[in-house]
Amino acid sequence: DENLFKKIVSHAKEYGFIFPSSEIYDGLGATYDYGQQGVELKNNIKAYWWKSMVQLHEDIVGIDAAIFMHPTTWKASGHVDAFNDPMIDNKDSKKRYRADVLIEEYIAKVEAKIEKEVSKAEKRFGDAFDREQFVSTNQRVVGYSEEISSINQRMKNAMDEGRLEGLKELIEDLGIADPVSGSKNWTDVRQFNLMFSTELGSLAEGASKIYLRPETAQGIFVNYLNVQKTGRMKIPFGIAQIGKAFRNEIIARQFIFRMREFEQMEMQFFVKPGEELEWYEQWKERRMKWHKTLGMGDENYRFHDHLNLAHYANAACDIEFNFPMGFKELEGIHSRTDFDLSAHEKHSGKKLQFFDPAENRSYIPYVVETSIGLDRMFLAVLTAAYTEETLEDGSERVVLKIPAALAPQKVAVLPLIKKDGLPEKAMEIFDELKFDMNCQYDEKDAIGRRYRRQDAIGTPYCITVDHQTLEDNTVTLRERDSAAQERISISDLASRVNELVSV
Ligand code: GAP
Repeated sequence: DENLFKKIVSHAKEYGFIFPSSEIYDGLGATYDYGQQGVELKNNIKAYWWKSMVQLHEDIVGIDAAIFMHPTTWKASGHVDAFNDPMIDNKDSKKRYRADVLIEEYIAKVEAKIEKEVSKAEKRFGDAFDREQFVSTNQRVVGYSEEISSINQRMKNAMDEGRLEGLKELIEDLGIADPVSGSKNWTDVRQFNLMFSTELGSLAEGASKIYLRPETAQGIFVNYLNVQKTGRMKIPFGIAQIGKAFRNEIIARQFIFRMREFEQMEMQFFVKPGEELEWYEQWKERRMKWHKTLGMGDENYRFHDHLNLAHYANAACDIEFNFPMGFKELEGIHSRTDFDLSAHEKHSGKKLQFFDPAENRSYIPYVVETSIGLDRMFLAVLTAAYTEETLEDGSERVVLKIPAALAPQKVAVLPLIKKDGLPEKAMEIFDELKFDMNCQYDEKDAIGRRYRRQDAIGTPYCITVDHQTLEDNTVTLRERDSAAQERISISDLASRVNELVSV
């Protein structure tokens, strides 16, 4: 819900996870900076993905390609001609919108009406079944549903045929008003390319226009034979990569969900033609399992199969996550056929075929890709983790129940009070543990407040050093989610905590 979303955004800022970019200049649209806790969480997500993709799969290797690529790359990939969003401007407010999104938001409102009717009906049936009311509810719901499918059909027709005026007609027919000004005075719909461009070299020496990559995938496609040959890879094999991507998104107002500069974690899996749909199913399953293994709630994930396929795909789906604004795309899994490699072969004039010794023939492999937005994964983790609760002792807290393996800080070492040699003892423990994991030392304020601070950044364990420690070399180990404490010997601490926080 809207309220939860606001709380997450402000919590992320208050505790050093995410700051608006260049905030002292009032920020830059849809661009964010990761703070001292954010960078740790982000790095842990990357490491977790990389380990499961590269380290645990002997048939997958990684690369790190440049953001800048030869401009023909984007001609071949179709991005120069087709990576467009239909946009519309309001003549009065001068605000710009994505035409398809305005229509989708209209549909969402109709869906909300259905939802309301149904829940009203549910409440009523709890008491007694009222035939007349049931029939009239039913009629209204059917009416709304029919309206939605007719809008969807008109939108699909217009988009498929590239008829931009069809989108404008639809917006006008539905009476959609500018959400800011309420005005219905719209311009025509125009295509807007999402790639950022810049110039390579100075103008004097004949600059050429190049693009910031809008996806990391193309860096893998143009390198696949380099990797295959130097790594002696046999099909099927995969190449993984984590890196920045850039898109000039028209609507970008959902925090780190839709950014103009973001990071992708992609894996392209090269398979024998004809086997791609089996691999597609495999990767769907494997990726869903990866998400669920993190323990952020199985009910928060679902597949959304694409019915309208992009021209290069013969199967595609999203893994959706239950974000504060509802179920939305977190990861895409696409069977991309040989579209990209064939296009690069054609545009470069270089053979991109793989010689399959088992079959004694060459072919262009088919590709199944898994592509997840790192920033979206970050938002998913924050969403699942953010919890407000009252503890047994009546105190209230905000706790981030981040999976321990991803938590930015693994432990905090806290002397109960700031005297009697407790800080020195705590420092000794801290100095040992810091070689193994991220930990914090904190001696400021009452112990309760220090626990609250660690809860707020999701630290899974707190070690408290008290007077008994000086006598018997034991400390208390406090677990974040249950707030349960156990007494443990200092000599067992490192191995115990390591075990608790590792994947
Ligand atoms: N190579 C395939 C590809 O790029 P995509 O569905 O356009 O496919 C993949 O993007 C993933 O990248 C999405 O599922 C999403 O998680 C992330 N993503 C895309 N655009 C984004 C944006 N503007 N901000 C943040 N993440 C984005």
